[in-house]
Amino acid sequence: MDPAVNATEVFNRQAPTALEIGFGMGQALVHFAGCHPQWNCIGVDVYRPGIGSLVLQCEQQSIKNIRIVESDALSVLECLEDNSIELIMVFFPDPWPKKHHHKRRLVTPAFATLASSKLNLGGRMRLATDWLPYAEAILEALQGNPELHGGISERWPLRPPTKFEERAQRLRHCVQDFCYTKVR
Ligand SMILES: C[S@@+](CC[C@H](N)C(=O)[O-])C[C@H]1O[C@@H](n2cnc3c(N)ncnc32)[C@H](O)[C@@H]1O
Repeated sequence: MDPAVNATEVFNRQAPTALEIGFGMGQALVHFAGCHPQWNCIGVDVYRPGIGSLVLQCEQQSIKNIRIVESDALSVLECLEDNSIELIMVFFPDPWPKKHHHKRRLVTPAFATLASSKLNLGGRMRLATDWLPYAEAILEALQGNPELHGGISERWPLRPPTKFEERAQRLRHCVQDFCYTKVR
């Protein structure tokens, strides 16, 4: 993406913009976009079978308000205009459980700063994970950001269960949802 990509230009209409990072097979973004045809929805992932699945669902369900970016999430975030996104969704980001892999995790204090800079005032970030140590790291990263207010939340009804949630249930992992609002 070119620097300072403007969603209004990409969609050719002014509308609230939702961004899902790491959409996997695309169920959550399809569900959100289908419930909110008046929103512009952007999905970012690098997983080709998932991109194919999302394209197919858009075709089958005649969903017109999704654009897909096959790229690394941080580079895409960097390219988006500041204060331009209404909702950022990150569901079941790869937990990288081994300590020497923690540096590969998506949600870090630097991610919180970057993502928050892209949110409109009053915009929201919703996340979920079933990996307790990552939940703690997410809380630490987001609580430490002065622009964001929020924390652990009820399960978001618009988040459909995916295989990652089903796996969590099988393993008796507790799924934790988070909701943060940009307050300044
Ligand atoms: C564990 S899966 C979760 C998928 C989906 N959110 C769900 O709940 O079913 C994590 C997803 O994040 C994607 N991902 C991981 N790192 C990424 C990055 N740096 N940029 C974009 N996508 C990434 C992976 O390809 C994968 O699809």
